[in-house]
Amino acid sequence: MRSDLATVAIVRPATLVAGELRVPGDKSIAHRALILAAHADGESTIRGLPDGDDVRATIACLRSLGVRLFPSASGGLTVFPSTVTGGGSGWGFSTPHGPLDCANSGTTMRLLLGLLAGSRISATLDGDRSLRRRPMARVIEPLRLMGARIQSDDGHAPVAVRGTRLQGRHHALGVASAQVKSAILLAGLAASGPSTVVEPAHTRDHTERLLRAMGGEVQTQGTTIELRPSHRPLAPLTMTVPGDFSSAAFWMAAAALRPDWSITIRGVGLNPTRIAFADLLQRMGADVQLDSSTDGPEPVGSLRVVGRSLKAVTIGPAEAAALIDEIPALLAVATQAKGTTLIGGATELRVKESDRIAAMTEGLRLMGAEVEEWPSGISVQGPANLQGAAVDSRGDHRIAMALAVAGLVASGPTSISDADSVAVSYPEFFQHMREVVDAV
Ligand code: S3P
Repeated sequence: MRSDLATVAIVRPATLVAGELRVPGDKSIAHRALILAAHADGESTIRGLPDGDDVRATIACLRSLGVRLFPSASGGLTVFPSTVTGGGSGWGFSTPHGPLDCANSGTTMRLLLGLLAGSRISATLDGDRSLRRRPMARVIEPLRLMGARIQSDDGHAPVAVRGTRLQGRHHALGVASAQVKSAILLAGLAASGPSTVVEPAHTRDHTERLLRAMGGEVQTQGTTIELRPSHRPLAPLTMTVPGDFSSAAFWMAAAALRPDWSITIRGVGLNPTRIAFADLLQRMGADVQLDSSTDGPEPVGSLRVVGRSLKAVTIGPAEAAALIDEIPALLAVATQAKGTTLIGGATELRVKESDRIAAMTEGLRLMGAEVEEWPSGISVQGPANLQGAAVDSRGDHRIAMALAVAGLVASGPTSISDADSVAVSYPEFFQHMREVVDAV
């Protein structure tokens, strides 16, 4: 059991944010690299994996499925599929002894459901209290349309899947979700006939990039993605996972809070489907520079943010989808921007690890900001004189980090409950905060 003392973090007002950091590996890419490597024909090596709880959950689930993962001599993990069959790939997963524990990780659960739907085994996927509340029907329904045999309690975990033969289908998604798209593409690997996904807005394309790098046949045209199954198994993968842009976003936000505060992040993923927050900070007035090169399937590089005076922005549904994980950090910045920052079309924020609209509204109001919320959005009036307060992260890693960033410009100490939730994606967060922040 976690002790209360261990879970409260105190953030003191900052006099300066300055410095250079590397953030942990990208969690979205790490889940996919591991899952696809588990399915490939032969030995893959993945370096730069983050040590967060979400990726640990994927590794533990794959081990329960008989996938062999070992530390590699060159750092990172070497992944061997459970059974390398003659002409095949990792369809030889073994039936796990108990439920697969996806812990707090929606990506683990949704992607594994897609992969296992067309396998030869049965499994039950479960998770923590937060994950049990999150919607799974959005992946169960399209997979069932392909023939999948999946049972759940009203579209929520625990979810039982019995692998079976699948048929490729055309899916017009009602929700912009990379997890749903990816689950369908993973199921599509085992289906007869092509699988097509049409997205209502662009979402992160890591699954498509990794599949292509491993010899998969994936075509993208606008918001339509088509996967053709192949008799050839996926080729193994050797890659270094770049730093997580969504983790870097908290430091970008911190640097943007005050003129001349600055931060440099090196070795960070700069995939065009992930960097909308950089454009947005620039639009708000911050000085943002990106320097990208391509190393393997994913663009990587460095970024630098220097604070300038900020103005408010308005964001609609397509931009909200592109920024979805960065919106808590953006709301912290919005408290210091002149005018009303308005975020609409962001209902998805309500079904993340917590209801992020409610959590940020409550936290920032306790700190003295003027915040309004409605079912699909949130607005913040700036600039606000924030005061330190006792705020609740609701056990959500991104809420804990966003409120910690807001605490840097509050007039007294901010205490954040359940702050150890940062371990889901960024266990070193508070240590890094001490490295780049001078506090009073
Ligand atoms: C993710 C997709 C997004 C994002 C999540 C990670 C992924 O979720 O919020 O943190 O790795 O595919 P949705 O697919 O629900 O939008």
